[in-house]
Amino acid sequence: MLIGKRILLIVTGGIAAYKTPELVRQLIKAGARVRCVMSQGAEQFVTPLSLASVSGDKVYTDLFSLTDEHEMGHINLSRQADVLLVAPATANTLAKMAHGMADNLATTLLLATDKPVLAAPAMNVRMWEHAATQDNVELLKARGVHLIGPDEGDMACGEWGEGRMSEPHAIVQAVVDFFDADAPLKGLRAVVTSGPTHEPIDPVRYIANRSSGKQGHAIAQALHDLGAQVTLVSGPVALPDPVGVTTHHVQTARQMKTAVDAVLPVDIAVCAAAVADWRVDGEAEQKIKKSGTQSPSFSTVQNPDILASLSIPGAARPRLVVGFAAETESVIEHARAKLAKKGCDWICANDVSSSTNTFGGDDNTVHLVTRTGVDDWPRQSKLCVARQLARRIADHMRKQDTSEQPGETA
Ligand code: PMT
Repeated sequence: MLIGKRILLIVTGGIAAYKTPELVRQLIKAGARVRCVMSQGAEQFVTPLSLASVSGDKVYTDLFSLTDEHEMGHINLSRQADVLLVAPATANTLAKMAHGMADNLATTLLLATDKPVLAAPAMNVRMWEHAATQDNVELLKARGVHLIGPDEGDMACGEWGEGRMSEPHAIVQAVVDFFDADAPLKGLRAVVTSGPTHEPIDPVRYIANRSSGKQGHAIAQALHDLGAQVTLVSGPVALPDPVGVTTHHVQTARQMKTAVDAVLPVDIAVCAAAVADWRVDGEAEQKIKKSGTQSPSFSTVQNPDILASLSIPGAARPRLVVGFAAETESVIEHARAKLAKKGCDWICANDVSSSTNTFGGDDNTVHLVTRTGVDDWPRQSKLCVARQLARRIADHMRKQDTSEQPGETA
């Protein structure tokens, strides 16, 4: 299945484009979210309106549309996809892809993307068999483009042979197979905490922090994208739930711990939430009134430490427990101390001084602290941090499974 997978379907100008509304329908039925881009040629065979109707989304056609750029920069179209699927891929488009030409929105996206590309060629048999097309196809395959088909059969031009676009169900199956092959965490369960907690003082006031949940939510999505079955336990945030991830919403640290405990056992735990260390001892049942010049004073009690409790050795301990350390000075030193104190396997240390804009911002600089060393990752978007961490986790789990590193915790 394709639950939560984001597919950018690029439709180019061949007669087989008439099959794309059915292709979109089947991809969506399999759980994918589909956004369509059409070349001008494609518009001769199928209308943007049909694809907008079946995909339930705007269809993008124009490289130089200021409206489109305003709504969604063309680079973002590919950033927001897990995979680009070109169907039908004409001989002309394959040639442009092979030679790095970017003369319309479709080919510009294909040149600018760093996402996997799948292409379902469709053309006349002689065009397919032509040495130029075959050379282009070999070049594209060598660069990692995944070809789906083409099939053999009757052609719209009356000839018979190889060049028909694969049927929509076969294309959907190829996309499913593609994701299955890149799902190293398939069969594993993960829990991720994200966002702040709100610790009530009275019915209208609470103690909180500046966490937006962007980093934790991105990690939940990245683990899901690699095939894990992910539960996200989120404090109060203004973000949509990641697609394909089971999300529980909580307010307080104690609720977060209860929700995490309810998900156990899991294979992987990632604690990215900024959990309040303390709560007010004895929340007032009614709003605390201002009385004269006297300010109220509060005593606090410690909240349960979710990360430390997950790390306690025993049968229920996840195979890998990853914490974060939000520091404003001596980042690595403090993170090392936290690794030892909390007993987790890895700590993602990040500097949260106000100048870094880590809390709430889109970017992060992470130092992965393990028992054996420190990896300094570059400053990058929180999405890229999440993907790098998910890949690293997948490598670790694979090595554990194949016992390359017995007892390895780094
Ligand atoms: O949400 P964003 O705006 O995207 O910002 C991301 C982030 C800065 C919040 C994130 O990258 C991060 O650093 N999260 C951890 C924040 C934190 O509370 O750090 P800490 O050093 O105080 O806690 C250490 C670890 O213990 C963390 O994994 C935390 O989740 C965990 N913890 C802390 C206290 C507690 N009671 N229970 C816990 O599980």
